[in-house]
Amino acid sequence: MKSIVFCGVRGGTGTTSTMAAIGQALHALDEKVLMIDLAPSNLLNLHFGGSPTETKGWARALVDGRPWHEAATELQPGLHVLPFGLLNQTERLRAPQLPRLLWQSDAARMAALRAQYSVVLFDLPSTEVTNSSVMLRSDLQIVTTEADPASCALLAKLPPDKRRHYLITRYDPVSRVQRDIRLLWQSRLGPNLLPQVMHRDASMVEALCSKAPVGRYRPESLAAQDAQHIAAWCQSRLRSLE
Ligand SMILES: Nc1ncnc2c1ncn2[C@@H]1O[C@H](COP(=O)(O)OP(=O)(O)O)[C@@H](O)[C@H]1O
Ligand SMILES: [Mg+2]
Repeated sequence: MKSIVFCGVRGGTGTTSTMAAIGQALHALDEKVLMIDLAPSNLLNLHFGGSPTETKGWARALVDGRPWHEAATELQPGLHVLPFGLLNQTERLRAPQLPRLLWQSDAARMAALRAQYSVVLFDLPSTEVTNSSVMLRSDLQIVTTEADPASCALLAKLPPDKRRHYLITRYDPVSRVQRDIRLLWQSRLGPNLLPQVMHRDASMVEALCSKAPVGRYRPESLAAQDAQHIAAWCQSRLRSLE
């Protein structure tokens, strides 16, 4: 089982929507996929028909002392989502410690996961981009970023790390600023910038309205095709690590 972590250089870059689309596209490429939401905002589930008031999730289960794997939902055979769950304000203060508990909680369960899935995807909150054990442990780290000046400044501040890859999201090729920033990053980041971008596409917003990843909501859309290309890139990177 290989792991990919998705984390925004800041919030609102499209990390969760992009990960949902890529998870579904990896499944279409015959991977057995588990998507885990590590964000207390608990939004990943909404991309797969979940409800905002649904309390079930791995963090909720850990806080309640129940087995966390029971919070996973099967979407299709070989495609599962594990929501974060709902926590109250006080419980949320513990949220940054919880992923460590997830790893340490049950070695037998982790071994079972390894047998059941070929890829696990993590949706990590942007606050953890520099300082998370999940980032360090994952086989592939994808930092999502818009090609805008604020993200440019944030990206420049990240400590260098050759293992980190960058994915431009909500890309609008009509925007000269975005084209220029993409060129700048191509020269600065070289192979660490993914060759494929996620284009700005209204289908992504509509897909969330219909609670489906974009590849299921509108398979012929530009964003769905981007997700397919990025999933194929991820699959070949992960295979090269075997
Ligand atoms: N490629 C895209 N094109 C257009 N809108 C997008 C795209 N990706 C995400 N969005 C929209 O941007 C908003 C934030 O997306 P979200 O995935 O929740 O970001 P994050 O997880 O980084 O906070 C949502 O309204 C989503 O529908
Ligand atoms: Mg998110």
